[in-house]
Amino acid sequence: MGGHTLIVTNDFPPKTGGIDLFALEMTRRFPPDSVTVVAFGGPDADAGDAEMPWEVVRLPVRTLLPTPRTISAVCELARERGADSVWFASSTPLGFMARKVRHRTGVRRIVATSHGHEVWWARIPGGRQVLRRIGDSVDALTFISKYTRARIAPALSPAARRRMVEVSPGVNPWGSGVGLPAEGEVPRGEELGEASADGGRARARHGLGEGPVVLSVSRLVPRKGQDRLIELWPSVVAVHPEARLVIVGTGSYEETLLEMAEASAASSSIVLTGRLPDADLADLYAAAAVFAMPCRSRLGGLEVEGLGIVFLEAQAAGVPVVVGRSGGAPEAVIDGETGLVVDPGDLGAIRGAVLELLGDPERAARMGAAGRAWVTSSWTWDARYEVLAGLLGRG
Ligand code: GDD
Repeated sequence: MGGHTLIVTNDFPPKTGGIDLFALEMTRRFPPDSVTVVAFGGPDADAGDAEMPWEVVRLPVRTLLPTPRTISAVCELARERGADSVWFASSTPLGFMARKVRHRTGVRRIVATSHGHEVWWARIPGGRQVLRRIGDSVDALTFISKYTRARIAPALSPAARRRMVEVSPGVNPWGSGVGLPAEGEVPRGEELGEASADGGRARARHGLGEGPVVLSVSRLVPRKGQDRLIELWPSVVAVHPEARLVIVGTGSYEETLLEMAEASAASSSIVLTGRLPDADLADLYAAAAVFAMPCRSRLGGLEVEGLGIVFLEAQAAGVPVVVGRSGGAPEAVIDGETGLVVDPGDLGAIRGAVLELLGDPERAARMGAAGRAWVTSSWTWDARYEVLAGLLGRG
């Protein structure tokens, strides 16, 4: 498998999130000297770049947009590195430059990957035009779930629609949950074997006692639904006084969630950890009895959950999941077998699902085992990479 690929992305470590992780997990699977990552700049944007085995070029802007200057920089890099393929790790808006890059360079294959936010682009007039142009300019526009495909496809020309290919997120084969490295840390997923995750360590570190842990992990934004978990938590503690609710991550909604937790009648059993390094996160997945993220759609369906890598991570760690019915999230679970899908607007239903799993540890364990078997066989990053590499002509 020869060739050189430019990976052009606004989402890459040390920034945290699902698309950043997606871009990283694909990048690390290419032979390191056969890729160049072209990413955003800004303060500390390059923390950790020097330790990465592949080249990362940071352009001097905080967000890459398909401006003439950025297009020229990408074309120049493509020519200098002799690139024959380009991957836009998030299709909008950067994929808009695909046509120019193809015309001005020797690049022959271009792939753009859509996530959840393209559902929004597909619904608004200007956004639809951008998506249509991207679809017509690339060799494949990939999608992460059947839901997102169904919403994005109508914005595309029939020919571009036929070229859509599924490349959904995954987990690492050893099956332990892992997120992204903390600021400045080198990605180290492969070193975090299952044996190294230790639930007891997480309990000691975060003062969780011996009771059951309900875990939720994400960028903290309203649609992820941690507010609902905090709201219903006193009624869970009424049944399981030793239970702890642990919310991991950071984001624009963190302050609000902290205030809600402080004001809660069950505040002493709610822990917001902030952003954690991968190893701590793996320990928490190992400690969890239930993973819950009752994600919801917002803005009349413009903002949805595309899929939810955290559900895959939790199942890979053998933890049953409670999943909000939003966008493609229900596709990340086998309802009734590996977890429970709930209506995120129905507090009673979310509470019922959490209590159902906490109240029947044997069933929860069976679901956890089933989730782990399913996810580690059907949702691996390795398999996703094979598809992507093939689309880029590198298979
Ligand atoms: N180490 C660490 N520490 N990892 C974290 C933390 C933290 O504090 N907070 C979040 N993460 C990691 C999670 O472990 C997970 O790997 C990722 O960040 C979050 O990914 P998603 O659950 O998929 O959410 P997203 O909204 O950021 O991602 C978007 O793109 C994904 C990829 O296509 C959404 O559209 C998702 O639905 C989609 O799956």
